[in-house]
Amino acid sequence: MFEFRNGSLHAESVPLDAIAHEFGTPCYVYSRAALEGAMAQYQSACAGHDALVCYAMKANSNLAILDLFARTGAGFDIVSGGELARAIAAGADPRKIIFSGVGKSAAEMRYALQSDILCFNVESAAELTRLAAVADSMGRRAAVSIRVNPDVDARTHPYISTGLKENKFGIEFDAAPELYRTASRMPQLEVVGMDCHIGSNLIETAPLLEALDKMLGLVDSLAGEGIGLRHLDRGGGLGIRYRDETPPDVAAYLGEVFARVGARKLKLVFEPGRSLVGNAGVLLTRIEYLKPGAARNFAVVDAAMNNLIRPALYEAWHDIVAVGDSGVAQAVYDVVGPVCESGDFLGKERELAVKEGALLAVMSAGAYAMCMSSNYNSRPRAAEVMVDGEKMQLIRERERPEGLFALEHLLR
Ligand code: LLP
Repeated sequence: MFEFRNGSLHAESVPLDAIAHEFGTPCYVYSRAALEGAMAQYQSACAGHDALVCYAMKANSNLAILDLFARTGAGFDIVSGGELARAIAAGADPRKIIFSGVGKSAAEMRYALQSDILCFNVESAAELTRLAAVADSMGRRAAVSIRVNPDVDARTHPYISTGLKENKFGIEFDAAPELYRTASRMPQLEVVGMDCHIGSNLIETAPLLEALDKMLGLVDSLAGEGIGLRHLDRGGGLGIRYRDETPPDVAAYLGEVFARVGARKLKLVFEPGRSLVGNAGVLLTRIEYLKPGAARNFAVVDAAMNNLIRPALYEAWHDIVAVGDSGVAQAVYDVVGPVCESGDFLGKERELAVKEGALLAVMSAGAYAMCMSSNYNSRPRAAEVMVDGEKMQLIRERERPEGLFALEHLLR
């Protein structure tokens, strides 16, 4: 949905320079067709099966995107009370909301129980005890799924690997049966599922399937003890192409999951984040200065690590392309922002034919980009724009500097 037409990069039918002209830079631009297409891939792979796609909204939580996905019938995977409030504001059906995360507060549990969400993904014995107490105080029962940690290596970046013993996530695999027994004896809890998320941006599905097999073994042995589960939640994790990777095929992976689950009476839940939104967005930025040097040439742009922290945090690669033709020769640049840190780069050693004032698009910036942005250096967050065919709509206003300190107080 992002392609060159007559030498100028477009989002669907809208030239990116028209968006920069209308809304300024830096600016996130999303393609509605790309978002809907990615969701349709999951939903058509689920057709004919008892399954629910719960978008992991941490990947991009703009209300317009949540609204779009809610309209397709999708549910949501949330990790905070803030995300629950957003999902509800966007019109999500609470009965399709799953609450993940290792540190749910009692207040968040209460809010989620009041909202009548589908289920809590519980990550520790202590959380189970707290959830039972909160439910008890409200005279309600909480539906729980236990997140198991299968000790499987996702073979992805260590910061986004979650399924190894040394990670903080989930219940140790060998300890899970005992916790299921404990939970099933608690009258305030209804044990409904099992979940597992071993990491993000996986480029191969073998670790996901290895974890699935371990889960299915556990599901069967629990069933043998009379602890029957209604659903199996496979988490998220499918990677996307940032550079030249060959990410897993959604339909093939889901097909393999359904095949391995076989005749078991289990609803399947999926929590994809990146693979729904990652390649549906770009970060549009303008070159402020070109700064040639003996060791490096720099293209100083108006977006920075506060807008997109992935390169600084994970040394992540995002393709960077010139939006139009500057009519100059190519050179190699480090694309850097105005923030006062040497880690403030969007890409290093990129071949670009550009001059001052040119627009660049930082590709694959739909996931874990805007939502991880900050106000470091008192930089307002970028605007966000949704393109739909020939139409463009502002879906988040650019922050204003006054807004950045509106919650602060001078000393009395
Ligand atoms: N479910 C759970 C419980 C998760 O923790 C996550 C992501 C997902 C689902 C969605 O995973 P996905 O399909 O997007 O791989 N900031 C990092 C990624 C952090 C992922 C955190 N958890 C990045 O920029 O690469």
